[in-house]
Amino acid sequence: MEGEGDRCARPAGGALLGRLTTFRGLPGPPLPPPLLLLLLLLCGPVLGELRAPPEKIAVIGGGIGGTSASYYLRQKFGKEVKIHVFERRKVGGRLATLNVEGQDYEAGGSVIHPLNLHMKRFVKELDLASLQVSDGLMGIYNGENLVFEESSWFIINMIKLVWHYGFQFLRMHMWVEDILDKFMRIYRYQSHDYSFSSVEGLLHALGGDEFTGMLNRTILQSLQKAGFSEKFLNEIVTPAMRVNFGQSTSINGFVGAVSLSATDSGLWSVEGGNKRVCEELLRFSKAHLISGSVIHIEEKAKTGGTKKAYEITYKTNSGINTDLYDIVMVAAPLNRKMSNISFLNFDPPIPEFHQYYHHLVTTFVHGRVNASFFGLTTTDTFHLTDILTTDNPHLFINSISVVSPVKREADFQSKPASDLAVWKIFSSESLTKEQLNLLFASYDSVQEQEWNAYPHYKPPEKCPPIILHDRIYYLNGIEWAASAMEMSAIAAHNAALLAYHRWYGNTEMIDQEGLYEKLKTEL
Ligand SMILES: Cc1cc2nc3c(=O)[nH]c(=O)nc-3n(C[C@H](O)[C@H](O)[C@H](O)COP(=O)(O)OP(=O)(O)OC[C@H]3O[C@@H](n4cnc5c(N)ncnc54)[C@H](O)[C@@H]3O)c2cc1C
Ligand SMILES: *[C@@H]1O[C@H](CO)[C@@H](O)[C@H](O)[C@H]1NC(C)=O
Ligand SMILES: *[C@@H]1O[C@H](CO)[C@@H](O)[C@H](O)[C@H]1NC(C)=O
Ligand SMILES: *[C@@H]1O[C@H](CO)[C@@H](O)[C@H](O)[C@H]1NC(C)=O
Repeated sequence: MEGEGDRCARPAGGALLGRLTTFRGLPGPPLPPPLLLLLLLLCGPVLGELRAPPEKIAVIGGGIGGTSASYYLRQKFGKEVKIHVFERRKVGGRLATLNVEGQDYEAGGSVIHPLNLHMKRFVKELDLASLQVSDGLMGIYNGENLVFEESSWFIINMIKLVWHYGFQFLRMHMWVEDILDKFMRIYRYQSHDYSFSSVEGLLHALGGDEFTGMLNRTILQSLQKAGFSEKFLNEIVTPAMRVNFGQSTSINGFVGAVSLSATDSGLWSVEGGNKRVCEELLRFSKAHLISGSVIHIEEKAKTGGTKKAYEITYKTNSGINTDLYDIVMVAAPLNRKMSNISFLNFDPPIPEFHQYYHHLVTTFVHGRVNASFFGLTTTDTFHLTDILTTDNPHLFINSISVVSPVKREADFQSKPASDLAVWKIFSSESLTKEQLNLLFASYDSVQEQEWNAYPHYKPPEKCPPIILHDRIYYLNGIEWAASAMEMSAIAAHNAALLAYHRWYGNTEMIDQEGLYEKLKTEL
């Protein structure tokens, strides 16, 4: 592997950054004098020729991962570098809306946690608006009847919860909060410019063996060990896993905790659709969008020099093209079915990833739900807006919820659920007409969207590498810890920092041990 100037340190931060005044990225801490001296000695002979900045960077994928990568790449590498973002379908990727009866609804990634600080910052910096996700009333259906029904009275809910589950609900929140607390350390590390060369390394820096160990166990094992009851696990934890990740409690403990954090209050989404963040990040980072599909990548010598670059071959409406890049970021799941990118003539070869993504169908139905399907007598006023389900092989849905459009008029009021409403259903297969006739008393429109939604989790999990080759970085390995918008943004920030530090040889900013202790005193 080539490494011209790779060993020469250059102060992190960079003067170029200063001119992009809207960015608030913090420069890295100064090097301690003895280390600086050592580096000066080592790099003495070539000091006059500090490595030139990269000319061109490719980002493959225009989802939240790719577009936030272009934002952070611009922030780190300055305004001169050309950034090309390849997207073969629509900018936004798994963030997409679907039009039902004249209004747009989130069909993919929909809710954002109040402590997802990258997403929060994007919305603020890009002048977008957020919408509170309305708290409806939740019920849990086991295939025969509702085992739990939320009431609109707070105090009744508390009594019901304690009656059914003791204080396990509270304990669960404390368990999740403890993990979230440690998870939040990532923002401090990243604001000080620290990066990690593996997903496991990143997790370890946040929560030590406890965090990496969560990838080795199922959420069921983790919570059983923590003493939660079978009833609580079946009736509360399982439905949360099914609605958020379409899978049971056999998913890994880390993604399981992320899923449980979605039971917190204060969830939000972006006005106009979450994909607006991707569109605006692209514009803000002044990246050039290429509407095309990347087919393969090969390492080539740059013309008239010994420097190496990556040649990307891609297909657009006007045919097959190629272009050379100094750095490549892959921000799409690497497998045959999804991105289908080949790495040609790499030695050693870049391994093929055979990772399986979970098939999920989102169906929107405008209609009136059939209350008796959920075991209620039709005379009951049906007031639930979210029905989650337990693990029952006879069930053909994971969840069904009333949804609000991504644009809301000032006087928008969510209607009582017994009225005609737009319902969103998650299921692993397309719903048949017979199934729709069971679920709905009446309906007039049906639309569906299929997804390769998120990894099919099966711990022990081994996350794919971030560094695929000298200057090729892979973002989506983080999805094997947990797939969420914020996780893609964290991976993007990390990869941009890693690419920057590796380009300029700032090895002290990569895989630092003991960061938490080190930064604790710096406020
Ligand atoms: C139904 C559903 C519900 C979800 N709910 C939530 C939620 O509530 N909250 C949350 O935080 N997360 C949620 N998620 C997960 C979240 O949507 C994803 O983790 C996130 O959007 C992934 O973003 P990404 O940019 O990494 O990947 P993607 O969005 O998949 O982006 C990759 C892009 O690369 C493009 N691409 C692929 N191959 C090529 C190629 N060869 N050449 C050019 N372009 C290519 C694709 O077209 C795609 O646009 C949900 C996901 C789904 C499907
Ligand atoms: C998780 O399992 C892997 C092997 O699958 C092992 O190498 C690693 O040490 C384990 N991590 C922890 C924290 O238990
Ligand atoms: C993947 O790309 C190759 C060409 O590189 C093509 O022949 C093949 O059909 C593609 N596979 C899928 C599943 O799209
Ligand atoms: C409603 O659900 C019940 C119970 O599953 C079913 O018998 C009935 O056919 C469904 N449809 C309507 C329109 O009531």
